[in-house]
Amino acid sequence: MRGLVVLVTLACFATAQHQALIDYLERRLLAIEDRISLWHEQTARYATELRELKQQMVSQLENLDKEKEVLRVSLDGVGTRVDRVERELDYLETQNGNQPCVDVDDKLIEQQVNLVTEKQKAKYSKLSDCSDMISSIKAMKILKRVGGPKGAWSKDSNSGSGKIYIFNGTDGDTIHEFSSVQDFTRSPGMFQSKALKLPSAWRGTGHVIYKNHAYYVTQDDEIMVVKYDLRSNSVTDRAVFPVQDHVPVYDLTPETVLDLAVDEEGLWAIYATRQNERHISVAKMDTNLVGIEQMWDTNCPQENAEAAFVICGTLYVVYNTQQPGRSRLQCVFDVNDMVTNEDAPQIYFPKRYGAHSSLKYNPQEQLLYAWDDGYQILYKLVMKKKLEI
Ligand SMILES: *[C@@H]1O[C@H](CO)[C@@H](O)[C@H](O)[C@H]1NC(C)=O
Repeated sequence: MRGLVVLVTLACFATAQHQALIDYLERRLLAIEDRISLWHEQTARYATELRELKQQMVSQLENLDKEKEVLRVSLDGVGTRVDRVERELDYLETQNGNQPCVDVDDKLIEQQVNLVTEKQKAKYSKLSDCSDMISSIKAMKILKRVGGPKGAWSKDSNSGSGKIYIFNGTDGDTIHEFSSVQDFTRSPGMFQSKALKLPSAWRGTGHVIYKNHAYYVTQDDEIMVVKYDLRSNSVTDRAVFPVQDHVPVYDLTPETVLDLAVDEEGLWAIYATRQNERHISVAKMDTNLVGIEQMWDTNCPQENAEAAFVICGTLYVVYNTQQPGRSRLQCVFDVNDMVTNEDAPQIYFPKRYGAHSSLKYNPQEQLLYAWDDGYQILYKLVMKKKLEI
């Protein structure tokens, strides 16, 4: 009996101990569960926060991308403006050049002044009382780049139509007509132009547009000037240019065998012959091509010449200089003997891309339409009176 009691007591004791252990374990488990659920909660919260952070990062990255694009676009804009400023600086530089190699050229000119023959001194009866000469270049504007490295372009002088005509290349047969300068600059390439197919191909860059007609130069055995009516698309006159022993007019534009020019007094021809020993000659032409009114051999050398133009009966020849990026107005010949080379203004043409293959003067606007390695450029001229020099 006693043994049983002890056993029961022992068992009770063991049970109590066991119970305590279980309680203890249960509390621990509960505590662990609590902490696990706390961890769960925290992990979930962290995960959410991480997700949110990621989303924020993504959207900020997107914004950065957008900003980068905006920055790139505006950098492009800045690039263009820097280009422009550079060109303008180039131009400003040209306004006050006085370089040593230019002095060498001056000496050359001086020597050549002594070579001038007297035969052109016959009095030229002026057709107008125009007495302007160039004083400086006020501004330049690069309008477009279309076509090949050489060509000519101009507005129709004296017609008021405002139309622009493009002669691309030195031996084409299709003039491109744009209804305005704006149309020309806005239109991509020759798109939006009217193509005028000529009956024969031109040669060189000597063409002009004058009073609704194109005057263009062709060359087979002889040099021919063709007058083409732009309204009826037909040839109205053609004449052989009556001068023997032609040579190309300008060293640097050898394709041009005859360069036509328009000024306040009408139509001029700029040419060169073997007889005038490497110098340029100029002739006043009748607009109906019935003949040459008068001709002069000038003291302006062909060597290094790029192009020339006439204003109020004065021939201006533009030369290449040894400095890259500039051409220089360097020889002047006035058929009225009012302007001499000493009076000629120091004018540099900012030539960024190559040689000027043509310079066409428009008397109404006092603008030069220049073709420089496929770029169509306008030079705005400032004039002064010949007598004020
Ligand atoms: C311009 O002429 C050149 C040849 O001098 C030719 O290669 C080019 O295709 C022409 N461009 C246009 C737009 O007619």
